[in-house]
Amino acid sequence: MRQKIVAGNWKMNKTEEEAQILTSEIMAMTGDEAGTSTTVILCVPFPFLGSLRNQVGNSPIKIGAQNCSEHQWGAYTGEVSAWMLKSMKIPYVILGHSERRQYFGEDGKLLAKKIDTSLAADLISIFCCGEPLSVREAGTHEQLVKQQVEEALFHLSAEQIKKVVVAYEPVWAIGTGKTATAQQAQDMHAVIRKHLASKYGGAVAEEISILYGGSVNAKNAQELFTCPDVDGGLVGGASLKSREFVDIVKAMK
Ligand code: 13P
Repeated sequence: MRQKIVAGNWKMNKTEEEAQILTSEIMAMTGDEAGTSTTVILCVPFPFLGSLRNQVGNSPIKIGAQNCSEHQWGAYTGEVSAWMLKSMKIPYVILGHSERRQYFGEDGKLLAKKIDTSLAADLISIFCCGEPLSVREAGTHEQLVKQQVEEALFHLSAEQIKKVVVAYEPVWAIGTGKTATAQQAQDMHAVIRKHLASKYGGAVAEEISILYGGSVNAKNAQELFTCPDVDGGLVGGASLKSREFVDIVKAMK
């Protein structure tokens, strides 16, 4: 059975104090919900990783990072290594978010290296893919997303790919309030799973969690999460509000 996951991507938001308050509210509101059948992950800014990891302690909520370097160690000022995350017992890292692709020039070749370093450090990568509006309008979105998956992941072994979570995030739905319909999400998730199956076989593809991201909120989460190939969500704006985020977690039931 593949894992059901709801992950918050806080992006570059919150002061340290605000981050601690948000985390304690989420912990209090999720109670026993988190960790039973749904994995709840908060992907927070680098400076808060240590204190929030201590704050969640042994609770079912996990802390993740939003990026890491393709390099292991060395003279790369301002970068963060996957091994640093491992040493801090941070189990998850988002890689290839469209904002990293768009504003920091990350491409498939670089992301393949980042995936490799993360796997070598025993982290679970949440690998993001998704098409911009122009590509959706041109009708070539399935082709592009398949290509993004191939470039960054298809060099992995079957054992390795099982440690990757895929997040489909259509760029036109991110931060726009314009979510993909459940049908659009399901269609693309099925395409991604089929593509993974073509390379790794159906049994492996069945084990890989594919999350939807792009304007997920407490109102649309349930419909999206009932799609057979949607295994959870990667939530941006709505993860910054405790009530809304916890309602999204509860919609996973
Ligand atoms: P929004 O939920 O704010 O649209 O952001 C989605 C996202 O980018 C999650 O990684």
